[in-house]
Amino acid sequence: MTRALASLGVLASGRGSNLEAILQAVERGDLPVRPAVVVTNRPQAGALEVARSHGVPGVFVDPKPYGRDREAYDRAVLSVLHEHGVDLVALAGYLRLVSAPFLAAFPRRVLNIHPSLLPAFPGLEAQRQAVEYGVRVSGCTVFLVDEGLDTGPILLQAAVPVEPGDTVDTLAARILEQEHRIFPEALRLVAEDRVTVSGRLAILKP
Ligand code: GRF
Repeated sequence: MTRALASLGVLASGRGSNLEAILQAVERGDLPVRPAVVVTNRPQAGALEVARSHGVPGVFVDPKPYGRDREAYDRAVLSVLHEHGVDLVALAGYLRLVSAPFLAAFPRRVLNIHPSLLPAFPGLEAQRQAVEYGVRVSGCTVFLVDEGLDTGPILLQAAVPVEPGDTVDTLAARILEQEHRIFPEALRLVAEDRVTVSGRLAILKP
């Protein structure tokens, strides 16, 4: 019996290079999902243009009317995702925390990418944190989102050496190349039902 293709919703706030990498992986046949919709909280997000150029609907959901009511905003986003039949969610540079009711709508099917080797350097400006701390190795992490800040079960990581003379920008650029590789790979693991979770451990089936 063939499994129905997962319907992917991507939430993004910025330029959308991870979104681009995900859509390219789908187009190459490396990621078995149907890209259903891209949602952004910023009207100028480059991700909207990326979506358009790949023929994927892009929707701006304005946070302003919801003020500090995170759950109300998330309900508005959820209704867009439901309208498009989404059952798998990628946060690709989405600069908002998602609420518990949002996560409950997609149990263990919300993935995020973070530009450090978690649990090192969670939160904003992870590449700057790494350079300023003086680590020799940093990288990126794809994880299943839980209610904490960058704390969920880890799916995939890639290590990136910090070279002498690296600036935040040069390190960020090398990490980004690895992000573009491991985010589609991790989405594929979940789309193919190859992930089980035990406590905080994600167990991957070969
Ligand atoms: C990436 O560095 C990602 O790790 C972080 O936000 C950035 C998004 O970049 N969460 P882009 O919009 O995908 O180009």
